[in-house]
Amino acid sequence: MPTIAHISDLHFGTEDAAVAEGLLADLIRLQPALVVNSGDLTQRARVRQFKAARDFLGRIPFPQLTVPGNHDIPFYDVMMRFFAPLSRYQQFINADLCPRFETPEFSVLGVNTSRSATWKNGRISIEQIEQIRGAFCTLPFERFKVLVTHHPFVPPPDDPSPALVGRGGDAIDVLDECGADLLLAGHLHRHYSADAKTHHVRIKRTILVAQAGTAISRRRRNEPNAYNLITLNPPDVEIQVRAWTGTAFEPLSATHYAKVENHWVKAGGAPAV
Ligand SMILES: [Fe+2]
Ligand SMILES: [Fe+2]
Repeated sequence: MPTIAHISDLHFGTEDAAVAEGLLADLIRLQPALVVNSGDLTQRARVRQFKAARDFLGRIPFPQLTVPGNHDIPFYDVMMRFFAPLSRYQQFINADLCPRFETPEFSVLGVNTSRSATWKNGRISIEQIEQIRGAFCTLPFERFKVLVTHHPFVPPPDDPSPALVGRGGDAIDVLDECGADLLLAGHLHRHYSADAKTHHVRIKRTILVAQAGTAISRRRRNEPNAYNLITLNPPDVEIQVRAWTGTAFEPLSATHYAKVENHWVKAGGAPAV
């Protein structure tokens, strides 16, 4: 059963060194097929922060797929923010802003949603929506399809106020059409999973959403440092939240979903919410 570790919002510059070492140890113990990193690798997009992030990611001995977050674009350096916003990210982390990872069981596509002008709130372009279509609509229906962005498509269950990714409604129509199964994102430093249909009610299928908290940063929002471990066991999926206890990452909660025709159903028969 392949597993995907979903880490996010490392925010090097505000990282907790002990938690970072604990995350590395946990990943090495669990041996995921892929480590997805949904952005905000740095706190202020400084060179030394990117170098620290690069060195940390270099110690993870598994395939990785990474997208940038808004904090990976310089905020105060206006020239760089508008004329070379992701140059440091591309120099130190990954030149590819539309990374893909393919196995016979699952396909993952990363899309950069961070923008210079709307620094905090992200956006998907029309071109990127077509990239999603090109990547997912050509795959077999049964292939588990995962999209990675930094900005979320669905708000937390207890807070409808956060800004969601711009043009997300248009993107979700294509994700629906092309049979996407799971959307991974971060940005809010809150961990939750849900069905995208609860927010985007017009879509015909259900699409799972898993948001990750901050894995190692001290910029927590009343939650422990945490990340998601996703286990694929077609037609079932488990999304486990692994949280820092003070000495190690341990399972905090797990939600099981089963795919029944075009819909994800929570274990026990309830709709995925
Ligand atoms: Fe963040
Ligand atoms: Fe962010």
